[in-house]
Amino acid sequence: EQIEKGGYDHFMLKEIYEQPKAINDTYRGRLLRDEAIIKMAGIEDNMKKFLNANRIIIVACGTSWHAGLVAEYIFEDLARIPVEVEYASEFRYRNPVITENDILIAISQSGETADTLAAIKLAKSKGAFVFGVCNVVGSSIARESDAGAYTHAGPEIGVASTKAFTTQITVLSLIALRLARAKGTISSSDYRHHLLELEMIPGKVEEALKSDALIKSISQVYKDSPNFLYLGRGYNFPVALEGALKLKEISYIHAEGYPAAEMKHGPIALIDENMPIVVIATKKGHYEKVVSNIQEIKSRKGKIIGIVTEGDVQVKELADHVIEVPETLEPLTPLLTTIPLQLLSYHIAVMLNKNVDQPRNLAKSVTVE
Ligand code: G6P
Repeated sequence: EQIEKGGYDHFMLKEIYEQPKAINDTYRGRLLRDEAIIKMAGIEDNMKKFLNANRIIIVACGTSWHAGLVAEYIFEDLARIPVEVEYASEFRYRNPVITENDILIAISQSGETADTLAAIKLAKSKGAFVFGVCNVVGSSIARESDAGAYTHAGPEIGVASTKAFTTQITVLSLIALRLARAKGTISSSDYRHHLLELEMIPGKVEEALKSDALIKSISQVYKDSPNFLYLGRGYNFPVALEGALKLKEISYIHAEGYPAAEMKHGPIALIDENMPIVVIATKKGHYEKVVSNIQEIKSRKGKIIGIVTEGDVQVKELADHVIEVPETLEPLTPLLTTIPLQLLSYHIAVMLNKNVDQPRNLAKSVTVE
């Protein structure tokens, strides 16, 4: 097992560090930047269906559901296709309205999650076209889908999902960009710019990983906090949810992810000098609005850990700690802002002597409902 961990203390840490390669493996052979082409057989073969779809319904569970939420922003923003994101377990029992003009995208690392599989079967029985985004080749969901795209992340052993998440977002970004190009909802220059930026993500993830020692020192300060709040907006709202989930899963600390602007409708009541609040405040999007959320937290004495764009000045003045990530296009920021949150949860769990790779009560693959 030590050999399999490749010199890392845990599979989770190894998998966090594998992300530059995993993301590269995911778009390799699909993103042909010189020709400005995205080539994915599952999309090309079914292009008509995608172009005529009324809407896309994304079903998933856990971390894969968070990737689905990121995809909702990307698909609507770039390809102008209406998207709904559903917990597979709710969708399958809700008597949902599904038509032949709907496309169901099922996202699953293992490809074996029982609820997601059942949601696929339901959608198929109503005539919807099902597209699977799985990591495990030949898995049940991959086989049950009408078409699909693999994430090519390689085996993920740690129960807490890391590289599966970022590679899911990578595949879904490729799909959204391909459809946006086909629909003409993105200009040729913006499209090329996205392809270029996507190719720069692995290098930028490497950069983000360099904050590891800093994140470890921040973890030391807050490891005994009983509660954490994670805030983000727009593309980074799902990242806040995922950051909170990672911490819960492996450290057993209660954590909540929230859209930053919703803070005033509840979570603000929890804020005092004992509450660490991780705020994703990258330059793009709603930066100024998030900065004013940070001011509200500060006036209530909450401890602020800001995830910011390299070179940030404003948040640095307000926050107790800042962790920088490189700048990129807004739809791609989740691929970078997720990295420090993975490391934060990892270090806290290790410091608390928790079983990082196999947390209590959790399973890597949930094959029962
Ligand atoms: C379990 C795992 C999670 C995962 C979820 C969905 O809860 O512990 O890490 O996100 O199942 O799994 P899937 O394989 O469908 O992505």
